[in-house]
Amino acid sequence: MRLKGSTVLCVGGSSGMGRGVAEVALAEGAEVIVTSRTLEKAQKTAQELGCHAEAIDVADDESVQQLFARLDKVTHMMITAGAIGRSAFDDTPPDQAPVFMDGKLWATHRCIWYSRSVMDQQGSITLITGGYAQWATPDAAHVHVAFAATEALARTVAVSLAPIRCNVIRPGFVDSALWDYLDDGDRTALKNEEREQTLTGELVSPQDIGDVAVALMTTRAVTGAVIPVDGGRHLKPIS
Ligand SMILES: NC(=O)c1ccc[n+]([C@@H]2O[C@H](COP(=O)([O-])OP(=O)(O)OC[C@H]3O[C@@H](n4cnc5c(N)ncnc54)[C@H](OP(=O)(O)O)[C@@H]3O)[C@@H](O)[C@H]2O)c1
Repeated sequence: MRLKGSTVLCVGGSSGMGRGVAEVALAEGAEVIVTSRTLEKAQKTAQELGCHAEAIDVADDESVQQLFARLDKVTHMMITAGAIGRSAFDDTPPDQAPVFMDGKLWATHRCIWYSRSVMDQQGSITLITGGYAQWATPDAAHVHVAFAATEALARTVAVSLAPIRCNVIRPGFVDSALWDYLDDGDRTALKNEEREQTLTGELVSPQDIGDVAVALMTTRAVTGAVIPVDGGRHLKPIS
């Protein structure tokens, strides 16, 4: 029970990797709060897992401010919420580029900023980026920029808010609600393709992300780190 007595806030915990973190944190004895933009969705997940629910839209300053005003104490915060869109550099004039940073970088920044009043000084913050942080492709230009900037933010937070720790999990492909827009055939094909790209021959699950997140929450020796959790996918060139 490594998290007994801790409160873990999973911003974006209603599905996907955030839900995986919530499940592992609960198994380790934490009080867990999962969030969604809609309270009903957060409540549904909370009921299934046996934890608390809150509504928050990370794109909305007031919503984030109000959430942290309602909370007493957060020991560890995991932020998986945030929008990211693919866009080619050539198709994105300067006035359209900020939206890509708003959805990920500034939404994450906003959560961290308002969390300071309730964060336990012995606690931690964990962010999510993705393999695109280390690659460059012409058709996903702003994903690369937003993920890399979010990793830089984590280092900045680690030095600015110390002794609170801040780390990043950098996943490869994880099967989640993010891919619900694909039909069954395309989703299966994508999963097979992604499985082949790993060195382990296995897909990474939301619970795998949860295992690493809880390790980061409970290991005080680690801060300012970026941990690839992708079955070794980062060691292969992007195709
Ligand atoms: N899955 C992958 O293969 C993969 C790979 C690399 C990186 N990532 C990144 O990892 C992050 C999480 O992905 P996931 O696979 O866990 O996605 P997911 O299953 O779609 O979960 C996203 C969570 O964030 C919440 N959310 C979305 N927009 C929000 C907003 N504006 N305000 C508050 N909550 C919001 C969602 O709740 P509601 O929709 O109910 O509000 C949900 O709880 C994303 O930033 C994604 O880009 C994913």
